[in-house]
Amino acid sequence: MKKVLLVFGTRPEAIKMAPLVKAFKENINIDLKICVTAQHREMLDQVLDFFDIIPDYDLNIMKKGQDLFYITSKILDGIKNVLEDFKADLVLVHGDTTTTLSTSLAAFYKKIKLGHIEAGLRTYNIDSPWPEEANRQITSVLANYHFAPTINSKKKLIKEGKDEQDVIVTGNTVIDSLFLALDIIENNSLIKKEVLGNIKSQYNLIENKKIILVTGHRRENFGIPFLNIFKALKKIASDNPDVDIVYPVHLNPNVQTPVKEILGNIKNVFLIDPLNYPSFIFLMNKSTFIITDSGGIQEEAPSLGKPVLVLRETTERPEAVQVGTVKLVGSDPKKIVTESQKLLNDSLEYNKMSKINNPYGDGYSCKRIVSFIEELKF
Ligand code: UD1
Ligand code: UDP
Repeated sequence: MKKVLLVFGTRPEAIKMAPLVKAFKENINIDLKICVTAQHREMLDQVLDFFDIIPDYDLNIMKKGQDLFYITSKILDGIKNVLEDFKADLVLVHGDTTTTLSTSLAAFYKKIKLGHIEAGLRTYNIDSPWPEEANRQITSVLANYHFAPTINSKKKLIKEGKDEQDVIVTGNTVIDSLFLALDIIENNSLIKKEVLGNIKSQYNLIENKKIILVTGHRRENFGIPFLNIFKALKKIASDNPDVDIVYPVHLNPNVQTPVKEILGNIKNVFLIDPLNYPSFIFLMNKSTFIITDSGGIQEEAPSLGKPVLVLRETTERPEAVQVGTVKLVGSDPKKIVTESQKLLNDSLEYNKMSKINNPYGDGYSCKRIVSFIEELKF
């Protein structure tokens, strides 16, 4: 029986690995173990709870205000013991976090085969997103198998010299998660009630009210860019008193402190705690549009037909820009305000950006990944 170890540590990795856990568990030919680094703690646990995932190993490394040296060395050290305990044939990592980088390095040191989910995303600017662009390029160098979400990402890997047979286009597993979660919410009245209760305990959701949903956490935006972004949001709030701005704030103190200072006391700005996944996608569905620097949200929003203004100068996800759902606005307050006003007042512009598109997948990515791994001969 093949032994596969899945390793993840942050909220987005957990969301994107959750349907893969389910797909592996349905396969009797694979012995699956799950290791969480807990690079995130509360935000990871929210996802584990919702998808009912109990890790076999938990490195529990998170500490408040951790830096990259701490995360990298703690994981590298901790994962060594896991690899020695569970002698995996294949380790699977996801995306571009420090969990991904450290685990990939550990698998390489132990000469264990490595598979990379969400491979081939690139800006080719190692300063943006930082440090993620370097993390994913290094992971690609170390990985044996590359699960690319789109043809575009496969092309990049082939251009970098990967063998065609080791690169498979699967779609992004985030769409599997999204469909799975939407299905659970729609078909389980208890969960739907919980989701509504969860949102309403922090924000009084009123049907048909215009909502701008905001998230932001990227390291490149720390400092001046975030100050500019928050000032832009303040202006949008004061120019549109009938619109609510709802912002589930990432737990990073580099975000929490400035956001509370600038947006803390505004009547129509709601700074709330991070929502669990089903509550967040429910709110996303109720929102008019989204302003974010998140990668995952750029992938989910087109499937829901929600326009997104992206608070980044570059994106490794050009597909959603091409289909027209996503626009890059960076941290320029003028652009953020102007583009937001267009989406609030210009129905033609709004309709152009709010068509449902699925450039990132059809919900069957995990099946493709598991079938490919089943066929592998080690
Ligand atoms: C990390 C990833 C980033 C990913 C993001 C998703 C790296 C280098 N960065 O960035 O690629 O997009 O996760 O959100 O891997 N915190 C808590 N509780 C939590 C989570 C975070 O308190 O559950 C606070 C802690 O103070 C922690 C800080 O947030 O020190 C930063 O967490 P960290 O994982 O270092 O960076 P992120 O900005 O979350
Ligand atoms: N998300 C969530 N609760 C929130 C905000 C976001 O569950 O309060 C989900 C969102 O739907 C997406 C993922 O978290 O799937 C994105 O995570 P994040 O923005 O932290 O990281 P990134 O995608 O930028 O790496």
